[in-house]
Amino acid sequence: MEDRTYTPALGRIGHAQFYDPIVRLMHERRWRGLVLRHLDAQPAERIVDVGCGTGTLALMLHAAQPRAQVLGIDPDAQVLAIAAHKARNAGPTLR
Ligand SMILES: C[S@@+](CC[C@H](N)C(=O)[O-])C[C@H]1O[C@@H](n2cnc3c(N)ncnc32)[C@H](O)[C@@H]1O
Repeated sequence: MEDRTYTPALGRIGHAQFYDPIVRLMHERRWRGLVLRHLDAQPAERIVDVGCGTGTLALMLHAAQPRAQVLGIDPDAQVLAIAAHKARNAGPTLR
């Protein structure tokens, strides 16, 4: 029996490292762009991305509104490691 208390990004079908390449095939830029537009982040807002996965949306939010504070949380250490790597490569203001 499994003792994990959450469903990972790709369920049981694949390792976290395959999440971004798979999502990229699903018109990702388009629907994430729509999410960003609806969120319309404002300076000084604090935005928590619960279940941030590999952090793509949180990073896009930061890029769209660098003066908002964006925090991504996720119970899966594997996706968080990918998110942290992407954040490190995205610029000095990200962790
Ligand atoms: C389908 S992925 C989506 C990831 C990200 N939001 C995105 O847009 O790419 C769902 C994420 O929710 C996380 N998750 C699952 N159960 C959760 C829970 N109870 N609380 C917070 N996050 C959870 C998973 O670890 C996974 O990274």
